[in-house]
Amino acid sequence: MLNSPSTTLIRGKFLDIQQTVSNPEDITQQMRYVDDGLMWCENGKIHWFGTWQDAQAILPKGISVRHYPEQLIVPGFIDTHIHYPQTEMVGAYGEQLLSWLNTYTFPTELQFQDKGYADKIAQFFLHELLKNGTTTALVFCTVHLESVDALFEHAAQLNMRVIAGKVLMDRHAPEGLCDTAETGYQQSKALIEKWHGKGRALYAITPRFAPTSTPEQLAKAGQLKQEYPDVYVHTHLSENKDEIAWVKSLFPEQTGYLDVYHHFGLTGERSVFAHCVHLEDEEWNCMHDTQSAIAFCPTSNLFLGSGLFPLAKTWEKQVKVGLGTDIGAGTSFSQLQTINEAYKVQQLQGNKLSAPEAFYHATLGGARALHLDDKLGNFSLGKEADFVVLDLHPTALQQLRQSHAKSIEDRLFALFTMGDDRNIAATYVYGQCVYQTEG
Ligand code: GUN
Ligand code: ZN
Repeated sequence: MLNSPSTTLIRGKFLDIQQTVSNPEDITQQMRYVDDGLMWCENGKIHWFGTWQDAQAILPKGISVRHYPEQLIVPGFIDTHIHYPQTEMVGAYGEQLLSWLNTYTFPTELQFQDKGYADKIAQFFLHELLKNGTTTALVFCTVHLESVDALFEHAAQLNMRVIAGKVLMDRHAPEGLCDTAETGYQQSKALIEKWHGKGRALYAITPRFAPTSTPEQLAKAGQLKQEYPDVYVHTHLSENKDEIAWVKSLFPEQTGYLDVYHHFGLTGERSVFAHCVHLEDEEWNCMHDTQSAIAFCPTSNLFLGSGLFPLAKTWEKQVKVGLGTDIGAGTSFSQLQTINEAYKVQQLQGNKLSAPEAFYHATLGGARALHLDDKLGNFSLGKEADFVVLDLHPTALQQLRQSHAKSIEDRLFALFTMGDDRNIAATYVYGQCVYQTEG
């Protein structure tokens, strides 16, 4: 019997986390490992999941099943903060945030007024995500409409769930990167109408950060959020000490950095704030009360010398958090490498990031931070079939280390410490294989 194109059956070893939790100690008991399992996908969704043995009773005779006997299959990784136009400028030397923006970032982003250029980089970027096992991302474009169209058009060809938006910036940036309060509003509105909810695309209102928007522009962004309550808000918050001081001088009426966004109606359950390295206590409380989420971006925070994010606070204050690569201030597209650095950032603060907790943040926890845990993050029936086939020993050193692993937690921890894109054997989006290594 031939499978219809909308049917995919995968046999192998599966690992996911079944429920969201409010305490990191509860994650291990939510981990589900199926040593020989079957996942049946229909029309992009998970139709059946269970043991290979139980599957015998329901499998039609002669149906073809793709078998990964040696690998580990996990939910697709979720990147809660990344800039696609900065792909070409990873590893820009020597600056901290504000001078890094002026020296490297703004000149790079100016190129995205050219649709052809935006197309080329968008394609490269999406391929790089998939090559690293990332199936969903919350993405900054540039101020140019063309940059948003390019990303959504190419993501649609791959059927990828991408959340993105046009940057809003009407001051403190080069002229070619600035809109106005009114044009920013009109263009964002047109893009919401064009893209939000089309296929798997979702729109995010994207003021770059408070210093590059006038109060008028932030007010218009808040108006847009009121008009379209189910779109996202995506911005930066409390990344760098000079940045925070600048915001306080630009917005003296507000009690602090987060209060600027809150005042203009930009906090909420679909708001994601990148970094939050230096939040004050009342800001943590506001994040909790408004159900806003944080994107923790360890490779970026280390690279730009921004500071050490206090991950334990997210549990203490019950604030949603996901992992972000923050390319191009971040230094890797890989969530495995991002976890590697997240672990070290926590070590420097006397906090242990366990492998189950890291796995949670990269999958179901990240989905929750993006308000998508009803659709993504694990192998629950009816969820969207985005998953990754991991090779646990692509190198001699990983092979040796894994051969000494004592438990599934130890295997995962070694994978997170040593792994990168070489560990991604295949990536599936909406039930279809969109990336695989040769052989
Ligand atoms: N703050 C404002 N813009 C940016 C950006 O492009 N990258 C980072 N890391 N922080 C920012
Ligand atoms: Zn960023």
